[in-house]
Amino acid sequence: MAIERTFSIIKPDATARNLTGAVNAIIEKAGLRIVAQKRIQMTRAQAETFYAVHKARPFFGELVDFMISAPVVVQVLEGDNAIAKYRDVMGATDPSKAADGTIRKVHAKSIGENSVHGSDAAETAAIEIAQFFSGNEIVG
Ligand code: CMP
Repeated sequence: MAIERTFSIIKPDATARNLTGAVNAIIEKAGLRIVAQKRIQMTRAQAETFYAVHKARPFFGELVDFMISAPVVVQVLEGDNAIAKYRDVMGATDPSKAADGTIRKVHAKSIGENSVHGSDAAETAAIEIAQFFSGNEIVG
């Protein structure tokens, strides 16, 4: 298996409920290493750029409003097969369909307020990491 990096966001519903540490505990227990992390207030422009792929979707406005409603924690996670592994650790987008023990099953409130984001492929991981971190902020 290859060592990969993936991009993660701990979303406003989780930071507002003081769950950053609880989410990080699940991430680390799964064998993923947090090699960069910062708490930020995302701007509307940043959120619109980040989710540009969903621009035509009916929930786009709601998604952007939610992502700027409170601070988020952006992260780079590193490990064997990190992209697929973190998607397993997060669970399904809709928490009602997420497997037991996943972050979304344990903590998410709804399909919109679903606690975490993780990259879906190597190409998007590289793009998403570069949107929030410079190379010297990532210490593996
Ligand atoms: P995320 O993995 O961050 O990628 C896109 C996000 O859009 C997704 O998680 C959900 O939070 C959000 N999303 C997907 N479907 C819906 C929906 N039907 N209503 C509201 N938000 C949604």
